[in-house]
Amino acid sequence: MRRELLAKGLRVGVTGGAEVVSGLDLTLRAGEMLALVGESGCGKSAAAAALGGILPPGLEPRGGTVAWEDGSPVRRGEGIAYVFQEPASAFNPVLTVGFQIAEAMRGVPKREAREKGLSLLRDVELGEAAERVWKSYPMELSGGQLQRAFIAMALASGPAVLVADEPTTALDVTVQRAVLRLLRRACTAGTAVLLITHNLGVVALAADRLCVMYAGRAVESGPVAEVLRAPRHPYVAALLAAVPRLSADAGTLQGIPGRVPPPEARGAGCTFAPRCPQAKPECFETAPAFVADGARAVACHAAATLRG
Ligand SMILES: Nc1ncnc2c1ncn2[C@@H]1O[C@H](COP(=O)(O)OP(=O)(O)O)[C@@H](O)[C@H]1O
Ligand code: SF4
Ligand SMILES: [Mg+2]
Repeated sequence: MRRELLAKGLRVGVTGGAEVVSGLDLTLRAGEMLALVGESGCGKSAAAAALGGILPPGLEPRGGTVAWEDGSPVRRGEGIAYVFQEPASAFNPVLTVGFQIAEAMRGVPKREAREKGLSLLRDVELGEAAERVWKSYPMELSGGQLQRAFIAMALASGPAVLVADEPTTALDVTVQRAVLRLLRRACTAGTAVLLITHNLGVVALAADRLCVMYAGRAVESGPVAEVLRAPRHPYVAALLAAVPRLSADAGTLQGIPGRVPPPEARGAGCTFAPRCPQAKPECFETAPAFVADGARAVACHAAATLRG
């Protein structure tokens, strides 16, 4: 069985334009949830789409490799399933939800697909409502129900990797927690989950490891508990300081002065330098390397002084 998906040096650009993901490394392990975190526009969705080779029009691959741990390449996104924020866009409005979940299990006989699909819907905490959801058309369901049906559909193909791009952003806190619980459960069952979010509360609640991106680059990664307790990158420290308390409803990234530089305005030095309280002259000249130290890694010229 494929246990690990390794992305190395991923680079993505706007077609004919600036780079939006610059040399990102990600390791997705079976049974583990990795959170990819960062402010809007930092390249999370572009990186996630590059993993499965499904970049939207307007973006182009610029380099890097994505392979399973045995070295075999990812073919047409095989083994990688996606869940997005907008579940309505994932379903055909004129077909029932059940029909579409069954379709995702290509090759499985109809009756078996129905049983497995219903059991997935029960698992995604639709419980008693599973039968009704199965027979419904997408527009007959609430946003929360449809999002959970979307996750059931993604899991129906038995993917090695599930990429969930901001899956809880549009949901109320109760449904948000249900969605996180079932992503957790998929992990426990052996799926590698990449959870994309701009909410540190969600990370604290659900993820095992995190990778924080800033302006197209990874700036810090490591085990969630360690990074949140003692961040080493000034950006991550500032993000945490700006969050009054970590919970799923109060962990949205905000409140640090300035904004992420647009892709075409990223200079040679550290992209965070214009906002960094610890910036030194060298920070504006050379970009810091992403340096690993055990399970943690950080890209900052001053990181040694922040070691905790
Ligand atoms: N389809 C697209 N065409 C052109 N530019 C895009 C497209 N999608 C994203 N971008 C640009 O790429 C950068 C990263 O976007 P994205 O990966 O969506 O960020 P995030 O998911 O972190 O909010 C942004 O500057 C955005 O404007
Ligand atoms: S490299 Fe310099 S500017 Fe960038 S985060 Fe570290 S201290 Fe701040
Ligand atoms: Mg996004």
